Amino acid sequence: MSSQALRDARRYEEIYEKEILTEQRPLFHLAPRCGWMNDPNGFGFYNGSCHLFYQYYPYASEWRSMHWGHATSRDFLHWDYLPAALAPDQSYDYMGCFSGSAIESDDGKHVLMYTSVKMAPEMQDEGIGIQTQSIAIGDGIDYEKYSGNPVLTEEDLPEGGSRYDFRDPKVWKAADGSYICAVANRAADNTGAILLYKSTDLFHWKYWKVLAANHGRFGAMWECPDFFELDGKHVLLVSPQDMQPSGFEYHNGNGTLCLIGSYDEATGTFSEEKDQAIDYGIDFYAPQTVLTEDGRRIMIGWMQNWDACAIRNPSEQWAGQMSVPRELSLKDGRLFQQPVRELIDMYQDTVIYKDVVIGTGESVALEGVRGRCVDMTIHVRPADPGHVFHRFSVRFAQKDRLRTAVSFRPHEKTVKVDRKYSGSCRAIVHQRRCLVEGSSDGVITLRLVLDRFSAEVFINDGRYVMSAAIFTDLAAEGISFFADGEAVIDVESHRLS
Ligand code: FRU
Repeated sequence: MSSQALRDARRYEEIYEKEILTEQRPLFHLAPRCGWMNDPNGFGFYNGSCHLFYQYYPYASEWRSMHWGHATSRDFLHWDYLPAALAPDQSYDYMGCFSGSAIESDDGKHVLMYTSVKMAPEMQDEGIGIQTQSIAIGDGIDYEKYSGNPVLTEEDLPEGGSRYDFRDPKVWKAADGSYICAVANRAADNTGAILLYKSTDLFHWKYWKVLAANHGRFGAMWECPDFFELDGKHVLLVSPQDMQPSGFEYHNGNGTLCLIGSYDEATGTFSEEKDQAIDYGIDFYAPQTVLTEDGRRIMIGWMQNWDACAIRNPSEQWAGQMSVPRELSLKDGRLFQQPVRELIDMYQDTVIYKDVVIGTGESVALEGVRGRCVDMTIHVRPADPGHVFHRFSVRFAQKDRLRTAVSFRPHEKTVKVDRKYSGSCRAIVHQRRCLVEGSSDGVITLRLVLDRFSAEVFINDGRYVMSAAIFTDLAAEGISFFADGEAVIDVESHRLS
């Protein structure tokens, strides 16, 4: 039986989605049906299609009491909205249904595990809630909250764990058929830890152990864990709050962290070996992954930074969008990301240029290379390897004074995304740089995936990725190439439709 709150949300989104013109939405990145979106939730397959839920407030384009929005796709790029799946309508979740995950139960049900939030009486003035984990069981469209909710409470925390920061369960099936779930918690040392719980039926959970502890190394509280096997190693993805940069890793604020290591499933022991940021751009947070039937591990993240939400005016009809889903792999001890290969099926009007010389100070436009929905790969090299250029830039979403640029400076070994001329009028971060090892010879490959309101740059086959939301007037469709010093480029560009 659905609640009044859920029926209201479903009625509202059905009416108000119609007020958003199709061309005012991203073409292939999921945005909310209406109103506000943050984290991806419950990313996974059920009944033959890929389901993606999201943190959702349908009634306004800002974060308020969280619902779960819902969409499905067969190719990760074309999304169909389904009715909102969860509303904050119970005594244990009236402050919000926060992030979580989904799994198919042995009896074929679609089971959602989410963080349920209610007011902490002693924290009423601060508006801080008590966070527990709850279950909803469904058929891929309608979900019923379990009568025994919540299934994990402060009683299940290790000593010193905070009940105010206990969230974002990621559940998976272990090799022996039992279930494991990873939940983020603020530990006794006041920084993040990822806790493991075990269950045989998805309803009764027992605390197992700490999978990974921050100990103040990477930001403060950790959010939204995901944990999986990849190319013979195990990878823990988390989103730390309140980070401080370390060189070019971990820009300030709410960032992303990838820990690569080995995992002993029998003992639940994760031995960390390497760490890196997941995305080096401005807008990427709270990613989740799914394993496809053909064995690909695919990640999707919220393509927005909490501190930069002001880039979007709250009077707009929607706010927040997902990244392009990305295929993950490990190479040289690093996480590589490539846009899902299904993107190829959207290619139109392919143009290929070879050996285009961009003279110093020159700005070059190429016939057929323009538009806001584009997948373009640029191989860059110096005209004379003895005289490596100072800068190569590609500018896009360009018209008159408007543009966003991706610039490569081989002498600094950096790639920079700069959206300060994208039309933003807010005092938020507009630029970010990424250190690209081995690029001082001026050779680099930049793959730019543009949708109407975003740019994602995949550097050197996805060794580094930089994502940024841009809300430039859609009439700004120009793309041009610029060099300081002489560069030579090959360009392959596809319009996406
Ligand atoms: C991350 C996050 C999660 C939480 C959700 C609430 O962006 O803070 O930890 O579950 O957003 O919307």
